[in-house]
Amino acid sequence: MVYIFLDYYDYPLFFFLKLSQFLCTFYMGKNIAKVTTTFQFCDGGSCQKAKGEMAIREARAYLRNQGLWDDTHTIKTRCNGRCEDAPTWIVQPGNFWYKNVTPEKAVSIVKSHMDQNKPAEEYLLYKEGWSILLTENEKTAALPLFKYKTEITIGELLIARAFASDQHLYPLFQYFFQESTSIGIQTGEQNIKIIDQPHKVDYSDKYDIKITGEQLQLTLAIGGITKDVSSTVTERKVSVAEVIWLKKKAIFTKALRLKNKKGKHLVTFWIKEDDENTWEHILKVYLSMPSNQIRIENENEISIQEFI
Ligand code: FES
Repeated sequence: MVYIFLDYYDYPLFFFLKLSQFLCTFYMGKNIAKVTTTFQFCDGGSCQKAKGEMAIREARAYLRNQGLWDDTHTIKTRCNGRCEDAPTWIVQPGNFWYKNVTPEKAVSIVKSHMDQNKPAEEYLLYKEGWSILLTENEKTAALPLFKYKTEITIGELLIARAFASDQHLYPLFQYFFQESTSIGIQTGEQNIKIIDQPHKVDYSDKYDIKITGEQLQLTLAIGGITKDVSSTVTERKVSVAEVIWLKKKAIFTKALRLKNKKGKHLVTFWIKEDDENTWEHILKVYLSMPSNQIRIENENEISIQEFI
């Protein structure tokens, strides 16, 4: 038998080590080196609405009761981008996508992967090697298109209602301000101010994006807001984004105009007529509309040549 005599000062350390040991027994993280199969359960909004949680519970309960917990990893993901097929799951390895997963299907899928090492083919949405998705629910998203309009202040124009989410605006702001693109800014009723130096684009806040530098200090809310946010955040929240293409010839003929939910103008970013790169970027990346495939409502009646 070995006796260890602790000094009076060693007792706190001794108890700390014992406590850590005790906690580790209960809170040790998953040993992912043992994991053979990962189930990625979507719990985004559409999948929650489609009662995806019920299927997740059944799958997890089955894995635990069958002693498969340590061999598998289950993760709840945000939206997988296939809301039309909600609830969706992805199983790795193999990149197997499942659609419309019900509690009944859940256990068959898990069994198939864990007992037979193969997917539950009848419930698949996609697997590697397929060139199409097996779905009856495909929705074609309405892509932005230009409409002809006349506005009192700026005259004849083509206008496209564009994407106002942070997923679209943050990269676009990076493009505008982190390179040395020369861009015109118009807030409220003020004149256009030229920004021709790179600026910092900071989107580390929950809602706000901050563009800061020598020539501009601008804060806009672009993140999804909840009802309990203050009215000042709601006031600067971008809800409407419009891409504008003026007919008249001027230094600035193209723009991105942002408004809040009430239609109040927040800011317009003006693109110089000769800045073809930025315009091309807006069309191609932001509007998914390459310059040789411009979409215009009633295009037989409107000549694009008048705007070029
Ligand atoms: S919320 Fe599940 S795929 Fe979109």
